[in-house]
Amino acid sequence: MKLAIGCDHAGYELKNEVIDYLKEFEGVEVEDCGTYSTESVDYPDLALKVAEAVAFGGADRGIIICGTGIGISIAANKVPGIRAANCHDKYTARMCREHNDANILAFGSRVISGETARELVKTFLETDFAGGRHQRRVEKIAEIEKKYTK
Ligand code: RB5
Repeated sequence: MKLAIGCDHAGYELKNEVIDYLKEFEGVEVEDCGTYSTESVDYPDLALKVAEAVAFGGADRGIIICGTGIGISIAANKVPGIRAANCHDKYTARMCREHNDANILAFGSRVISGETARELVKTFLETDFAGGRHQRRVEKIAEIEKKYTK
């Protein structure tokens, strides 16, 4: 699995921790989209890099981190085909895969601990989409996108 990861300055340290943790997963290839320091940057720029890597650049999934996970997930969700979920715990990380087929996991470095981040990442990577009635709902999300994409 190819995984794109990105963050703003607020997520920089947690992103490094997550990249280290990802070494424990066999077959996961990581593309680090930045940012590469704690110097202040704008989270939409990093959201776009990861979202484009997932939507058009061959990455299977993505992880994005800002202070709250809110801004970076809102921005990523503007890219067609992206379903980015801002998660806080193991339950939401599992549900975003099972019910929503989320292709990007978002979280906030100022909201969750490193330990919780690792738990979210593991759950996100190891949980499959349940399909069935959820497939229809995910397709309806894509229809909304098409309606407003020229
Ligand atoms: C940066 O201070 C902060 O606004 C950003 O990381 C994020 O939390 C935005 O949603």
